[in-house]
Amino acid sequence: MSKRVGVLTGGGDCPGLNAVIRAVTRRSLARGYEVTGIRAGWRGLVEGLFQPLGPREISGILPRGGTILGTSRTNPFKSDDGLERLRENFKTQGFDALVAIGGEDTLGVAARLHEEEDFPVVGVPKTIDNDLSATDYTFGFDTAVWIATEAIDRLHTTAESHNRVMVVEVMGRHTGWIAVMSGIAGGADVILIPEQPITVEEACEDLRHRHERGKDFSIVVVSEGYELTYESGQRQQVGQGPDASDEFGHVRLGGVGEALAREIEERTGFETRVTVLGHVQRGGSPTPRDRILATRYGLKAADLVHEGSFGLMAALQGDRIVAVPLKDAVAKLKTVPPDWYETAKAFFG
Ligand code: F6P
Repeated sequence: MSKRVGVLTGGGDCPGLNAVIRAVTRRSLARGYEVTGIRAGWRGLVEGLFQPLGPREISGILPRGGTILGTSRTNPFKSDDGLERLRENFKTQGFDALVAIGGEDTLGVAARLHEEEDFPVVGVPKTIDNDLSATDYTFGFDTAVWIATEAIDRLHTTAESHNRVMVVEVMGRHTGWIAVMSGIAGGADVILIPEQPITVEEACEDLRHRHERGKDFSIVVVSEGYELTYESGQRQQVGQGPDASDEFGHVRLGGVGEALAREIEERTGFETRVTVLGHVQRGGSPTPRDRILATRYGLKAADLVHEGSFGLMAALQGDRIVAVPLKDAVAKLKTVPPDWYETAKAFFG
């Protein structure tokens, strides 16, 4: 029996989204199913923004960054009639299944829709932050780490030429995955992450120690979610304030690199510069690893739809693609485990 499958991408965009859309569509079309793209994440299902997905629409999109469907941070549970309109559009379109490609927020909505409304939905884990539980890796993360590592490599040569401390602020929200992995790969001299916040004093001590060893330049990687932490116990989150929070209640982070650089320069006397990588980490073409992971996730999601196994998310465990309950993926943030940070710390100072 033919099925009508809806596909949406929600939350921050990320390299590999198009590879998932392609894989879901290819496998579903091969089964004789109809595939419809829902534009702009959950907003598209609330407002009725649809586009057919056929062979022509998905041709050539595998290496393309961003999402051909567009995205948003709309939370349909936030507005008075959001849920009602979403239900109505789902029915009018005659959808038999929905594939939601997203992170914590998008999949949180998918999990609720399944649990509370019995929606036939499956999830695919996307985010450069790699902070979703129940999967070893999300697609997009490898690309972000690659971009940040490349930036750190480039900053090394200019740091060395000028005898400077270079502070690199990377994304990752409230987890330090991008910071730790790019910091290890790029040979950072200090890495500051939200999960295990070393103090500003300790960071400065590491830099002084390094300079005493005869190195007159340093690379510091700081995760945007790191709270400036002091020996006195004082902590300060740097961001755009509560007014800039989204429909899921997330404050917009950013700016800690600048504040940290100021502290380092004042406390150590070493000339310091800051680079904020920002959305560059989410842009452009996915790495081969992310293309492959996204493709495997997409095929798995299409297979779950075919089997009628809903409320599940495609996940990577070891080298295997498996299905896990959506609610397990969003139950709590997957933070950087202490042993990963220990690996990074072996090279501090
Ligand atoms: O979740 C992905 C992410 O890039 C975070 O690392 C970052 O804090 C946030 O999105 C930025 O969001 P926006 O694109 O809305 O500025």
